[in-house]
Amino acid sequence: MSNNFDKAFSPATLGKMPLKNRILKAATYEGKTPDGVPGELLLNFHKEVVEGGTAMTTIGYCTTESDGRINDQMMWMHEGIRDRLVHMNSELKKAAPDVKISGQMTHCGNFSKNRKMQRLKRPLGPSRQFNMLGAPSGLPFAGAMTVADIDYMVQTYHDAALLMKETGFDAVEIHFSHGYGISQFISPKTNRRSDEYGGSLANRMRLPLRVLEAVRKAVGEDFPILGKMGLTDGIKDGLQIDEAIEVAAMLDAGGIDALICSGGTSSFNPMVYFRGETLDKGLIEVETNPIMKLGLKLIGPKMFRYYPYEELYFLEDAKRVRDRVNCQMIYIGGCTDVASIEKVMAEGFDFIQMGRPLIKDPAFVKHAMADRNYKNGCIHCNRCASLIEAPGGVYCPLNLEEQAPEARSSL
Ligand SMILES: Cc1cc2nc3c(=O)[nH]c(=O)nc-3n(C[C@H](O)[C@H](O)[C@H](O)COP(=O)(O)O)c2cc1C
Ligand code: SF4
Repeated sequence: MSNNFDKAFSPATLGKMPLKNRILKAATYEGKTPDGVPGELLLNFHKEVVEGGTAMTTIGYCTTESDGRINDQMMWMHEGIRDRLVHMNSELKKAAPDVKISGQMTHCGNFSKNRKMQRLKRPLGPSRQFNMLGAPSGLPFAGAMTVADIDYMVQTYHDAALLMKETGFDAVEIHFSHGYGISQFISPKTNRRSDEYGGSLANRMRLPLRVLEAVRKAVGEDFPILGKMGLTDGIKDGLQIDEAIEVAAMLDAGGIDALICSGGTSSFNPMVYFRGETLDKGLIEVETNPIMKLGLKLIGPKMFRYYPYEELYFLEDAKRVRDRVNCQMIYIGGCTDVASIEKVMAEGFDFIQMGRPLIKDPAFVKHAMADRNYKNGCIHCNRCASLIEAPGGVYCPLNLEEQAPEARSSL
């Protein structure tokens, strides 16, 4: 398997972009943009990642418009943060001159509890529905987008991509999954429209493909566009694997450079993409809204269904996508061991994205390159994910507990 070890840690190209190795940081919204501003907190988090040898980091949840945010602390791509983005990206390049930076382009659609809406009065998705997330914040209903709203959303992706390219991002990743805006259109569960944006898969893919086209128009042919898609929604009447493979084929034909296959939805069944310990206990602990806390206690066990962790939990389904498309493939989901990296390489995937392993140890790549017996130590407790809305945002509590008591008390 040593060829595969060497393959993982040697230079490669994503589209036309050279990368120093094949290990990439996955988008993990870190909750480090207070009041929507990307400042030192976010910069310092990603500085550790890029200094740790990862070829490309991904800034998670770069929302394309203010009203595309899940909460009012998320950043959105607009002129007001242009200088901050330039600063962040240039500082990251200073810290690791050969690193690349991607930004994950997102829009929450109707999955929002943002009370600071600017353009809209309530969140919008493909079809009207009860907004469980927004209910405790006074946003219990989500409306259906008109065609003009859809046109507007497509334009926000175009404009955001332009801004991201101009401010020093080297790639963008369009989020087609996890129950957010675009995936609400793809999923037959949440898209109940009867116009040209609903019904058949071709119709449900009309918005996603328009977004891809708009982003391509903004960034040009040579700029890498990655897509994170769902293999399944993990719910009855939602997107299932056979249809997901066709989604992949359509994105491939639409000119995507690389696909990342995930699954599940934040709205109905998030543990499909996390696996391991469920998030509800941790979320209840950090929740400050008493109604939300009660809601979590009541619906948590049903919503956060337990899926035991196993290494490479998306591998078999991702291989079916690999066999269907010509674009490059980026594996994601439970790749924590060096042996798993080798296996993914042996299966012909081009790159690997890691989320939790790089939260546990941002220097994963440096450590694994120096010692093939390296053990990462992430136990998939998912406590980091419960912290996305806690003050200061995401970190690995296990790291703190593993430190000597003297070091802990000095923090
Ligand atoms: C703290 C945290 C935040 C996350 N935020 C995002 C996000 O903003 N966008 C996204 O697509 N996935 C997000 N994810 C999911 C990861 O990108 C990834 O799909 C998942 O953690 C599985 O990969 P892993 O086993 O390497 O962690 C998040 C995961 C964690 C742990
Ligand atoms: S808190 Fe640490 S050990 Fe637990 S899942 Fe997150 S990174 Fe892994």
